[in-house]
Amino acid sequence: MKVAVGCDHGGFVLKDRVVRTLKELGAEVVDLGTDRGDVSVDYPEFGLKVAKAVASGECDAGVLMCGTGIGISIAANKVKGIRAAVVTNTYMAKLTKNHNNANIIALGGRVISEDEAEEIVKEWYTAEYEGGRHQKRLDMICKIEDENFK
Ligand code: RB5
Repeated sequence: MKVAVGCDHGGFVLKDRVVRTLKELGAEVVDLGTDRGDVSVDYPEFGLKVAKAVASGECDAGVLMCGTGIGISIAANKVKGIRAAVVTNTYMAKLTKNHNNANIIALGGRVISEDEAEEIVKEWYTAEYEGGRHQKRLDMICKIEDENFK
């Protein structure tokens, strides 16, 4: 699996650990920045880069990080086909793959620890989408996109 990774300065603290974890899981990682935590950058830029990489099919999935995970997930979700989920624990990580088939997870560098980020990434990466009744709901989301995105 090819996984795009992106963050702003608020999420940078988690990036190395997330990249290492993904590589240990066997993923090919595409690092789309930012490359340092001491310079303030704008999270929409990195949310968009990762979202485009996933929506285009260049990457299979993505992990985003900002201070809370919220702003960068909001930006990513403006790209058609993206289901970016803010995740703060392993239960959410598992369920957002099982039920939402989240193709991006968003983590908060000011919310969770590096250890928690590692466990969350492992849980999400290894969980499976369950399909079935959940597909109907994802189809409904696709319809919302079709009706509301240009
Ligand atoms: C940057 O200070 C911060 O606003 C950003 O990392 C993120 O938390 C936004 O949702």
